[in-house]
Amino acid sequence: MAAFGGAMGLPERVDARNLRLRPFRLTDVPQLVPLIGDRRVSRWLPRAPHPYTDADGRAWVEWSSRQRQAGEALELLAERRGDGTVIGGAGLRLDADGRTGAELGYWVGLPHQRFGYGRDMAQGMLSAAFDRLGLSVVWAEVDPANHPSQRLVTALGFEPSPSSVSASAAHGSAAEGDGADRFVMTAARWRSLQGERA
Ligand SMILES: CC(C)(COP(=O)(O)OP(=O)(O)OC[C@H]1O[C@@H](n2cnc3c(N)ncnc32)[C@H](O)[C@@H]1OP(=O)(O)O)[C@@H](O)C(=O)NCCC(=O)NCCS
Repeated sequence: MAAFGGAMGLPERVDARNLRLRPFRLTDVPQLVPLIGDRRVSRWLPRAPHPYTDADGRAWVEWSSRQRQAGEALELLAERRGDGTVIGGAGLRLDADGRTGAELGYWVGLPHQRFGYGRDMAQGMLSAAFDRLGLSVVWAEVDPANHPSQRLVTALGFEPSPSSVSASAAHGSAAEGDGADRFVMTAARWRSLQGERA
C-alpha cells in the first residue's frame, strides 16, 4: 500500500519556474506521441514502448490517472508557461512501504532540450516530493551511458549511491534499475541546497 493512497494525497499540479506540470489528458496524445516516440528520448526510458503508438499514449493517460488516484505515482505532463506547449513529462513513483521515498523520472522532447526545462521540471518535482509530500528521499536510476541525465542529476545535487533504496520497492520497477547508476537526494540535502541558493 502506498503512502499517499487516495486522490487527496497527491497534488494535481506542480509549478516550476518556466513550466506547469499537470495530469495527462487524452487530448494531449497527438502532441505526446511524436515527442516520446522519438527513439533518442525513449531509449533512456525503460518503461516506454518503441515504437510508441496513439494506443500507448491513451493507455499511459489512463494508467497515470489510476496511479494518481491510488496514491501510487504522480506522473505529470510538463507544459510551458504562457503558451502551453507540451515540453515533456516527469514522475514520482512512491515506494511501496511507507511515506519514505520515490523514484524520480523525467524526459524532455528533443526540440525542447538544452533550454533548462529538464532542470526546471526536476526541481519542481523535488520540491513537491519534499515540501508537499514530506518524503525523506528521492532517487533516480540513470544509465551510465546517459550523459545528459547523469550531468543533470549531478547538477541538481543528487549524490551517487551504491544501494540505499531497493529498486524493486518502487511500483513496477523491479529489475528495471539493473545496470543503472542510482543517484539519491535526501530531504535534508535538498533543504540545505535550497538554503544555499536563497
Ligand atoms: C536528460 C534530459 C531530461 C535533460 O533535459 P534538458 O531540458 O535538455 O536539460 P537542461 O537544459 O535542463 O540541462 C540541465 C543540465 O543537464 C546537463 N545536460 C543536459 N543535456 C545535456 C547534453 N546533451 N549533454 C551534456 N549535458 C547535458 C547539463 O549539465 C545541463 O546544464 P547546463 O546546460 O547548465 O550545462 C533530456 O536530455 C532527456 O529527456 N533525455 C531523454 C530522456 C532521459 O534521458 N530521461 C532521463 C532518464 S534517467
